[in-house]
Amino acid sequence: MPQAAEYSAVEALADGRHVEIRALKPDDRDALLAAVGRTSAQSLYRRFFGARRGFTEQEIAFFVDVDFVSHTALVASVEEDGRPVIAGGARYVVVAPGKAEVAFAVVDEYHGRGIGAALMRHLAAIARKAGLKQLVAEVLPDNIPMLRVFEKSGLPLTTKREPEVVHVRLDLG
Ligand SMILES: CC(C)(COP(=O)(O)OP(=O)(O)OC[C@H]1O[C@@H](n2cnc3c(N)ncnc32)[C@H](O)[C@@H]1OP(=O)(O)O)[C@@H](O)C(=O)NCCC(=O)NCCS
Repeated sequence: MPQAAEYSAVEALADGRHVEIRALKPDDRDALLAAVGRTSAQSLYRRFFGARRGFTEQEIAFFVDVDFVSHTALVASVEEDGRPVIAGGARYVVVAPGKAEVAFAVVDEYHGRGIGAALMRHLAAIARKAGLKQLVAEVLPDNIPMLRVFEKSGLPLTTKREPEVVHVRLDLG
C-alpha cells in the first residue's frame, strides 16, 4: 500500500477542537455511512449533483475500497463523547495523467469550522507528493462554501462558469 494509506495529521480548529485528518480505512464503512446519514439533503445534493436517499452496495464499495494511487480518500475525525466520529471527507480520483478530480463533504453541524479547508490542504499535499499537477472539480454555481474552500487553499485557481456548473482547476505546481 502507498504511504498515503497511513496518512494522519492532527489539527486544531478555530473553536479549539481537534480534528484528525487521516486516510480512510476499509473498516470505516459504517462510520462513513453514519456520517452520510447525518448530512443534509442540500449538502448531499451539492456533493452528488442530485437528490440521494441511499447508495447501492457497488457505490459504497467504490467509496470505501480506495487504492491511494488512482483514488485517495481522507476523513476528518472528531471526538464526540470521547469517541471518534467522521465529520467529513475528501477524495480525489485520477482522471488523466497528472490530473485528479476532487470532491468534499462535511457533516452540516460541522460546517464553517475549517474542516473543509483542512481536508483541502492535506489532500493537495498528498496529491503533490504523488506527482499530480492539477486538481479539478465541478461545483454548483450557488455552492459558495466549496468555492471559498478552493479559494482559501492559496493554490492558483482557474474557474470556468457555465449556467449549471462551475469548472474549477487548481494548479499544484
Ligand atoms: C463545501 C464544504 C465541504 C465546506 O466545508 P467546511 O468545513 O464548511 O469548510 P470551511 O469551514 O473550511 O470553509 C467554508 C467557507 O465557506 C464560507 N461560507 C459558508 N457559507 C457561506 C455563504 N453562504 N456565503 C459565503 N461564504 C460562505 C465560510 O465562511 C468559510 O469561509 P471562511 O473560512 O473564509 O469564513 C461543506 O460546506 C459541505 O460539505 N458542503 C456540501 C457538500 C459539497 O458541497 N461538496 C462539494 C462538491 S465538490
